[in-house]
Amino acid sequence: MTIRDILESMEYGPAPESGAEVQSWLDGRARAFGHFIAGTFTAPGEGFESRNPANGALLARVSQASQADIDAAVAAARAAQPGWAALGGHRRARVLYALARLLQKHSRLFAVLETLDNGKPIRESRDIDIPLAARHFYYHAGMAQLMEEELPDRAPLGVCGQIIPWNFPLLMLAWKIAPAIAMGNSVVLKPAEYTPLTALLFGQICQEAGVPAGVVNIVTGDGAAGERLVAAPVDKIAFTGSTAVGRAIRKATAGSGKALTLELGGKSPYIVFEDADLDSAVEGLVDAIWFNQGQVCCAGSRLLVQEGIADRFHDKLRARMDALRLGDPLDKCIDVGALVDPVQLATVKRFVDEGAGAGEIYQPDVALPEGCFYPPTLITGLAPADRLMQEEIFGPVLVSTTFRTPAEAVQIANDTRYGLAATLWSENINLALDVAPKLAAGVVWVNATNLFDAAAGFGGVRESGFGREGGWEGLLAYTRSAEAPARARPLAPFAAPEAPAPDDPLDRTAKMYVGGKQARPDSGYSRAVWSPAGVLLGHVGSGNRKDIRNAVEAAHKAAGWSRTTGHLRAQILFYIAENLSARAAEFAARIDAMTGGSGGAGEVEAAIDLLFTHAAWADKHDGAVKPVPLRGLAVAVNEPVGIIGAICPPDRPLLGLVAAMAPAVAMGNRVVLVPSEAFPLAATDFYQVLETSDVPAGVVNIVTGAQDALAADLATHLNVDAVWNLSTGDLDATIERAAAGNLKRTWCTGIGDTPASREALAAATEVKTIWVPYGV
Ligand code: NAI
Repeated sequence: MTIRDILESMEYGPAPESGAEVQSWLDGRARAFGHFIAGTFTAPGEGFESRNPANGALLARVSQASQADIDAAVAAARAAQPGWAALGGHRRARVLYALARLLQKHSRLFAVLETLDNGKPIRESRDIDIPLAARHFYYHAGMAQLMEEELPDRAPLGVCGQIIPWNFPLLMLAWKIAPAIAMGNSVVLKPAEYTPLTALLFGQICQEAGVPAGVVNIVTGDGAAGERLVAAPVDKIAFTGSTAVGRAIRKATAGSGKALTLELGGKSPYIVFEDADLDSAVEGLVDAIWFNQGQVCCAGSRLLVQEGIADRFHDKLRARMDALRLGDPLDKCIDVGALVDPVQLATVKRFVDEGAGAGEIYQPDVALPEGCFYPPTLITGLAPADRLMQEEIFGPVLVSTTFRTPAEAVQIANDTRYGLAATLWSENINLALDVAPKLAAGVVWVNATNLFDAAAGFGGVRESGFGREGGWEGLLAYTRSAEAPARARPLAPFAAPEAPAPDDPLDRTAKMYVGGKQARPDSGYSRAVWSPAGVLLGHVGSGNRKDIRNAVEAAHKAAGWSRTTGHLRAQILFYIAENLSARAAEFAARIDAMTGGSGGAGEVEAAIDLLFTHAAWADKHDGAVKPVPLRGLAVAVNEPVGIIGAICPPDRPLLGLVAAMAPAVAMGNRVVLVPSEAFPLAATDFYQVLETSDVPAGVVNIVTGAQDALAADLATHLNVDAVWNLSTGDLDATIERAAAGNLKRTWCTGIGDTPASREALAAATEVKTIWVPYGV
């Protein structure tokens, strides 16, 4: 080819990055790896091969973690953790800083190794993954430094088990390890079986950086190794991966007391309004779905285009797809690299072959290289409910549908079981900022896509999991209250009936509180409530699944509450407090009569105080503008979780009820409360306080009855977004296992009638990060 030919065709020549440094690093380790445990590499054992998906070449042999390996890694982490925490924030900060510097120093080695192991274009690993991983260690070096001053009431959890997927191997490692060790935890991390190599290189970097032995441990292996880690005696599991495995982990850890964060799949909408900058929106899609072969949990893989511009937009998109360059991921000119493994390639093919249905498939006419390559694909003409519009494909396949109005766009966008991220394009800032809060997603990008940073929270809602990574909010998930664990508080002395009395035919006075009205229980049964001295105090209804359903439906109808202002919610909470105060003596006497104690007056006072606290927070639990390295805003907004079911403590029947209700309602949630089973009359008396306090119908619902059965009913209900257990720990397992169904959030505090405000407010909110880059 002559220069003249090149000038005519403007073809890119190959610009390969050298793999020599990586090959010599692999050779230096005889292409065989053990685990990184207690600061050293173990001898390679039985295991599996890690291959370059672009050409099938063997990169190295890696060991499969046995039970003994997991035990050794957890023991090393356990032994190292107290000393690491005791080092103090500043000394830990210096170690994290050293890790950040070494990641930068070895960035080329990391980038090339990542590309060889994963198949992603070198431009992505070099310009995005590795710099962001280093940024994470810098950021969290700062968090370690500030911990004592800024988070004096928080302590590390202990040993954290961390399991990560193959799409961002080093970046996910950084997201998991940096905050954990910054806060004084030690970790055992298991990378994905397809992409273990950069994690092993990171082990070597830990040695160089002077990370004390045992603080960071890396064990390799497949899902079975992951299962062993989940079952090991660790204090927390942090998982990123598929929704199916996330659900299995939720079940496996139910009732174990292990903290859990799950970052799962997604089917994120990519909404293009007719007034959008269409060329930018097309370019955004290249980043969102093709640059990384669609192997991103938050990939904007579901395109929603406004009807009037749909044809024009699809034409532009097809033209851009024709120009995408597929090939050797080490080539710096490549846009689309290889899928991670032949298994993933087969999955993507199957999805398209079986699911396209009435849709029209477009693939550019490109010659596919040998290896795990799949062409960029656009499928238009699908209906929102079609399988390909609903299920995560995790390949370079974009599915598209159209909408007419912004309201319809929101409705289609939210018509999915996931809720990880969303992208919207519009030049109209009013429209963009109106739509962003309405999208069910943890992250929203306005006129941009796939922006990440250590300072900004990332994570999902619904079946995309729970918990946030990054920012201050991410630290909550790697710390616990520095005070004694909540469960340490003994139950207040009370004389609960030894065995609950049998249910009797309904007493006409026994009512639930549903939809702002007192309602008869569905069962037709009630239970007598006696004082310890044997005096009949009243009757309460025996609630069942149907009552829970009615209460949830009432809460659902009260969705407007979530859109009210904090100012309004504060006034209503103050008003509840005022009305309770007016009847304080009556409530105190009732509590004393039920419990046989004398603490009623103090309990009523404490409940009024708590109502004031959360009235105060209603308009003060503010969000933040995150200092991300971008010309624009990354705004963290606290949104209500939705409908929260709460099981109240058995003792302190009024204070416990208020402790569940007040923070939830203050943050704009609607609640279904299951009051103390032993002393339910404090709750039934409370109906009248609610009725006189302007609480809109359906915002607070109260269902009396057997807590264990009602807890399970709440946790399995698909319209309940979170379940709180402020009651005894023996309900935790039931709730957490049942909650795995739709992966709802749970908050099991144990007997803590006034959990710290910070934790209660965090449990009552979802942080949504809205990214708005600007500039003309
Ligand atoms: P996966 O969820 O099976 O694997 C993720 C990690 O979990 C890996 O380290 C794996 O070894 C481990 N693991 C697997 N089974 C486990 C178990 N029972 N207990 C503990 N750990 C376990 O994901 P996989 O098979 O790699 O990909 C399947 C699909 O999951 C993808 O096609 C994609 O749809 C989705 N996915 C989503 C990701 C995300 O970032 N949200 C990342 C990777 C996959």
